[in-house]
Amino acid sequence: MRLILLGPPGAGKGTQAKMLKEKFQIPQISTGDILRHAVKDNTDLGVRAKSFMDAGQLVPDDVVVGLIKERIKQADCETGFILDGFPRTMIQAEKLSETLTEMDLTIDTVVDLEVNADEVISRLAGRSTCPECGAMFHEESRPPKVLGVCDGCGGTLAQRQDDNSETILKRLEVYQESTAPLKEFYMRQGNLKTVIARGSVEEIFSRVCEMVR
Ligand code: AP5
Repeated sequence: MRLILLGPPGAGKGTQAKMLKEKFQIPQISTGDILRHAVKDNTDLGVRAKSFMDAGQLVPDDVVVGLIKERIKQADCETGFILDGFPRTMIQAEKLSETLTEMDLTIDTVVDLEVNADEVISRLAGRSTCPECGAMFHEESRPPKVLGVCDGCGGTLAQRQDDNSETILKRLEVYQESTAPLKEFYMRQGNLKTVIARGSVEEIFSRVCEMVR
């Protein structure tokens, strides 16, 4: 099963991708996570990506396309994968199609998580993540058992650098401009499924599962 999760920042792509990964035993490929690790490790990729990420801008297409091309050719992707946060521009979508065609593969379903801007802002402003294991929390909808401490590994929770109000608004603007047009692209290809991403995480997950069966 090969899936793409589309949707604005804070739509719940990462949350749903982690649950899909468990259910279907296929890797979650998050360009945001890959880039954040690179920034944390101060690699060449991280140094190149950091200023774009901090400003809420997209990292250049050639950088992320190269990453994804390599990643989907790895052995654990043979039975499928979930793309979370990629593609995000028309160029990325076209390059992905080209690569998949070369590999004689297609995307089965593109799930578009629809949520309004007010909900997104409250989700992102209340989010904290564990830099050690990647677990995600929210101060209201999924609070950790102990404030500031990861339930899973005991790591110290942190707010993402780009989850401040100014950068969130920029990310939403960039989404509307560069990523929202991909819905039309995948609608024309006949594999776009829209999921209303309001309600509990579990309710949304069951809607997503209905779409990808
Ligand atoms: P990325 O990490 O992909 O960030 P994003 O798209 O802005 O998405 P988020 O991770 O913020 O949100 P999400 O939809 O995953 O929601 P989540 O599940 O976390 O990208 C970051 C940056 O990297 C970009 O700005 C760019 O610079 C760069 N980048 C990445 N990919 C790129 C690409 N392809 N090209 C170029 N640049 C790229 O949920 C959010 C919060 O809400 C959590 O706290 C969660 O617990 C909570 N929540 C989830 N579901 C619910 C619910 N149903 N009800 C209540 N709360 C909920």
